Amino acid sequence: MALRVGILGAGHMGTTHATLLARDERVKVTAVADTDAPRAETLALRVGAKAVASLEAILDAGIEALFVTTPNTTHTAPVLAALAAGVHVFSEKPMATSLAEARQIRGAAARGPGPGLYQVGHNRRFAPAYKAAKARLADGSLRVTSAHIKMNRGELEQPPWVGDRAVTGGFLYESTVHLLDMARWLLGEVAWVQVVGGTHVYREPDDFSMLLGFASGIHAAFTSCAHSTWLFPFERVELFGAHGALVTEEMERVQFAPGLRKPVQTQEFGPLPIPEKWGYAEEDRLFVEAVLTRGTPPVTAEDGYRAVELVEACYRSLLRGERVTLPLL
Ligand SMILES: NC(=O)c1ccc[n+]([C@@H]2O[C@H](COP(=O)([O-])OP(=O)(O)OC[C@H]3O[C@@H](n4cnc5c(N)ncnc54)[C@H](O)[C@@H]3O)[C@@H](O)[C@H]2O)c1
Repeated sequence: MALRVGILGAGHMGTTHATLLARDERVKVTAVADTDAPRAETLALRVGAKAVASLEAILDAGIEALFVTTPNTTHTAPVLAALAAGVHVFSEKPMATSLAEARQIRGAAARGPGPGLYQVGHNRRFAPAYKAAKARLADGSLRVTSAHIKMNRGELEQPPWVGDRAVTGGFLYESTVHLLDMARWLLGEVAWVQVVGGTHVYREPDDFSMLLGFASGIHAAFTSCAHSTWLFPFERVELFGAHGALVTEEMERVQFAPGLRKPVQTQEFGPLPIPEKWGYAEEDRLFVEAVLTRGTPPVTAEDGYRAVELVEACYRSLLRGERVTLPLL
């Protein structure tokens, strides 16, 4: 029998995941809820599910897994309720918007096989461009000594809630968390951060220059601006080694310079459809696989927690004007 899945939040990401899940023959999208009822109805119709009024109604529909795709500060309550009901959870990023809530979720998520598996939507880990970068590091083609990372955003206007810190938790939780997680995935645990920033266009810090020191000794400069326009590439990772470099341009292409007199190798991912190029298709496939095989999810509650911790460390450093070491207490 197909895995019964519920969707909470029928907006952009709810639609993305539900559409992908509806194509997976191992899955039956069963129930969809949204505070905006017509949205739930539209999505339910699209994926052959039932529109219901609330989280409780989704859980009553006998689902085995829940996708939480509501705005950032509304993730924790439904995630905890679902885990407590023995339901597996996929939550969009960020896991939570405070350390305390992230700890609660980490504590509630299953640590082994059984009910309550939890995966967080750090989709970029499944994007072919970032997987190609990770493969170069894993096979020793590039031994990184330092990095430059950029995660800009054109505006905090669409959808309208992205400019409301009470709903996003802050710009770092909204956008930058993607590449903070990526930095950790590629380069290992972060030992300290030192951050400067400003509040220029919106009613919250919206422009950051950050130094990251990794436990390995690697250091990185990371910039993140919320009002930079969508000038390409607004998202970029540059990794430097001994006469070697690797550069990603969004999730479109990767360039790798293996040495001083060796040709640059380019991998193009531009023509891929967005769900594959941005990693959504694979993250959903692997979530379903982890549930069905009672395996470990590919992005764990610990990963979600560490990403939240990194965001918190960056805000603390900005606020205090000093270097902050991790892990945070
Ligand atoms: N991984 C990614 O690439 C990516 C991209 C965009 C957004 N996101 C994340 O996905 C989440 C949703 O973002 P989006 O772009 O889909 O937003 P959206 O505004 O398009 O959709 C959110 C939906 O949730 C509904 N909603 C709000 N509060 C609710 C509640 N308490 N209960 C039920 N429904 C509720 C809204 O009515 C809306 O339909 C956010 O956490 C965001 O950070 C991730």
